Amino acid sequence: MTSEFAVELRDVVKRFITPEGNEIAAVDHVTMQIKNGEFFSMLGSSGCGKTTSLRMIAGFEWPTEGEVYIEGKAMGHTPPYQRKVNTVFQSYALFQHMTVFQNVAFGLEMEGVKESEIKQRVGRALEMVQLTGMERRKPKQLSGGQQQRVAVARALVKTPEVLLLDEPLGALDLKLRKEMQLELKALQQQLGITFIYVTHDQEEALTMSDRIAVMSKGRVQQLATPVEIYERPVNKFVADFIGESNFLEGKIKSISKDEAVVHIPALNADIRGMPMARDMVNGEEVIVSIRPEKVRIVESGAKTDGIFKARVMNSVYIGSDTHVYAELDGVRLKVMEQNRISRLDPSSFYNKDQVISLLFLPENTLVLKKD
Ligand SMILES: Nc1ncnc2c1ncn2[C@@H]1O[C@H](COP(=O)(O)OP(=O)(O)O)[C@@H](O)[C@H]1O
Ligand SMILES: [Mg+2]
Repeated sequence: MTSEFAVELRDVVKRFITPEGNEIAAVDHVTMQIKNGEFFSMLGSSGCGKTTSLRMIAGFEWPTEGEVYIEGKAMGHTPPYQRKVNTVFQSYALFQHMTVFQNVAFGLEMEGVKESEIKQRVGRALEMVQLTGMERRKPKQLSGGQQQRVAVARALVKTPEVLLLDEPLGALDLKLRKEMQLELKALQQQLGITFIYVTHDQEEALTMSDRIAVMSKGRVQQLATPVEIYERPVNKFVADFIGESNFLEGKIKSISKDEAVVHIPALNADIRGMPMARDMVNGEEVIVSIRPEKVRIVESGAKTDGIFKARVMNSVYIGSDTHVYAELDGVRLKVMEQNRISRLDPSSFYNKDQVISLLFLPENTLVLKKD
């Protein structure tokens, strides 16, 4: 390994001319550094530039501006087959008329690798994805998850240092997708190669990744670990896109490095929270964000800062949790409570119009920039 980074994008822009004749920046000044051996995800909704970024790493597209580096080397116009990366595509289209062995061997045969070596390398790739013994099956004789693993083996047989995966689990049903998430993650750890994974599914990205780049409109909104992204989103977009959150508009009354006091006009009250940007100032209009599971419902007699009386509008029992929709001076908030105690008595849950007390702790309350 010559470089700390497996892949690097430096200020990469990709512009396309649409069929209507408009120019769009599919990727708009993206910079990211992907470490060797890392499980790295690009996460964002459809059209945010994930596939285009991946295709530029693979060499199927060239940047309009900026540069892609692999193992520290500028790629310029290096063609895909000369890059040490390999792609597992969105629709992993296996050749239906070919056996598992033939599917995995195909690329090597095209390269003219000799037969004894093909046999050995295909055998190893199938072993890695635990499909030994299935060599003679056709794709339709395999489950969805097994077909997926054939697609991964087909990419691994080329011994890439970086595997690029574009929504590879998109076609699978939820249960199988969850199983495959854990399987792919285990496979990546066992192989120790770098995975760059594209998904629009936030839970998938949180489950699998060492780090995530959250993307929107061709730009990286935040690049951090799953915990940082969920617990310390840098802006409202990220807080809203990953998980759920309650948002309140307000104005900073006082601020230090660790705490901001924000006046919330709708509540005619102040809330304390943690500033999520360094450059916030007194008087600035901001968004206060608090996640539903981080609002606490407390005894109404309690006397502490940060307690607000609210009225229950609706309470939904969903087995593991109860979701309480509360109203507080015309502001609607969602609160989630885990059902840690088994009980049947309906009066032990929250009922419509019941008055409850909500506690917002400063360490659970994030103060975000408005943009
Ligand atoms: N070859 C192309 N020509 C014109 N526009 C394109 C082309 N490829 C992608 N785009 C546009 O670029 C944007 C990003 O696309 P894409 O990278 O596929 O997004 P994602 O994979 O995140 O869904 C979209 O608006 C898409 O329509
Ligand atoms: Mg895509």
